[in-house]
Amino acid sequence: MEKLMITGGRPLQGTVSISGAKNSAIALIPAAILAESEVILDNLPLLSDVAVYSEILEELGATVAWEGSQMKIDPSSIKSIPMPNGPVKKLRASYYMMGAMLGRFKEAIIGLPGGCNFEPRPIDQHIKGFEALGATVANEHGAIHLHAKELRGNKIYLDVSSVGATINIMLAAARAKGATIIENAAKEPEIIDVATLLNSMGAIIKGAGTETIRIEGVSELHGCRHSIIPDRIQAGTYMIAAAATRGNVLIDNVIPKHMEALTAKMQEMGIGIEEYDESIRVLGTPRYEHVDVKALVYPGFATDLQSPMTSLLTQAQGVSVLSDFVYSNRFKHVPELVRMGAKIRVEGRSAIIEGGRLNAAKVKAADLRAGAALVIAGLTVSEGVTEVTGVEYIDRGYDHLVSNLRHLGADVWRQTE
Ligand code: EPU
Repeated sequence: MEKLMITGGRPLQGTVSISGAKNSAIALIPAAILAESEVILDNLPLLSDVAVYSEILEELGATVAWEGSQMKIDPSSIKSIPMPNGPVKKLRASYYMMGAMLGRFKEAIIGLPGGCNFEPRPIDQHIKGFEALGATVANEHGAIHLHAKELRGNKIYLDVSSVGATINIMLAAARAKGATIIENAAKEPEIIDVATLLNSMGAIIKGAGTETIRIEGVSELHGCRHSIIPDRIQAGTYMIAAAATRGNVLIDNVIPKHMEALTAKMQEMGIGIEEYDESIRVLGTPRYEHVDVKALVYPGFATDLQSPMTSLLTQAQGVSVLSDFVYSNRFKHVPELVRMGAKIRVEGRSAIIEGGRLNAAKVKAADLRAGAALVIAGLTVSEGVTEVTGVEYIDRGYDHLVSNLRHLGADVWRQTE
């Protein structure tokens, strides 16, 4: 078992460069299935989820060449084979195989997704979308069976603006007959990134990034080259870590516009923020004010930064209230932070956080962002060693975490037992 060991108390100093967005990458790789020739993805993050996705594509018969941050996917010899088990079970985002396979082959059998299950995460809106496009969908023995004689465009109103459902419907509709309109679509930057790739492949998608997306189906898509947007959650995590340790860090290769909800909250707390074209500097100060934070869909405060933000708010004066309106119970980091001496109680969708000092402890990451929260908490504690287990979750979303933090002056290392 691997652990992250942290002796904190050192202000982070220096520059960290952010890699490509995980939540884009794991949609862009399956999107390549829809093309008839080579798709090249640049600025890819080196993450376990990306490795699993390349395994899935190879199992289908694609040629995948992954070197550094570039992946070349030749999908020309892909075959439609059922995937009820195997690597699809390791990923939450394997649900994108449904939209991509349906778009290309009009059929798919995909095992129900795994991944970070901090609470039940239904896919009813994805299924509603596939059915509206003319597919029959059945859940048999833990796998979703999809089949369509032909896919026909339709108008689909999403009951919740789901990131996954919006992308999945775009994937299938890109090769359907006629026009599809998604209303109440999610507006996250990753959706624009997927639409940009699909359009470079010859798709006709307009309105990505707004609540109405229009997709004119085409019969064939071709290869292209695409550079993935920077990971705004990874960037936000380093910004929060810099502030929590009262450091001075330049976060490079970010799109500052994507970070607005976080930068506004950090400024409200009294943290120094300098914005440049593609970077943001975070300057810690001795005293932080308490704030209330509401995690919402984009452009609101990202739910994926809710857990890291909890750790930062333990360093503020007074009582902060952090509510999550995307997930109803994403608070698995709280009992672990309490183990470190934090004064936090959860009431319904909110964590009520009273600022105060934390202590080193042995804690366990129950999911990816909970893991990030615990690492940040550990970085604030100067006495003793904080031990974080559940490293496999953290590796799903943060490449080079240990080397990046060490480069910023943190005393962090991996230990295998
Ligand atoms: N929802 C439904 N029905 C659906 C789909 C979603 O009720 O069919 C609900 C969910 O239960 C949740 C809300 O809608 O309460 C939002 O879910 P969404 O579908 O937007 O989330 P997702 O696509 O499953 C992606 C990211 C998550 C991120 C969310 C919200 C990927 C692979 N995952 O999940 O990322 O939290 O959007 O921004 O892109 C992470 O990176 O740590 C992570 C969990």
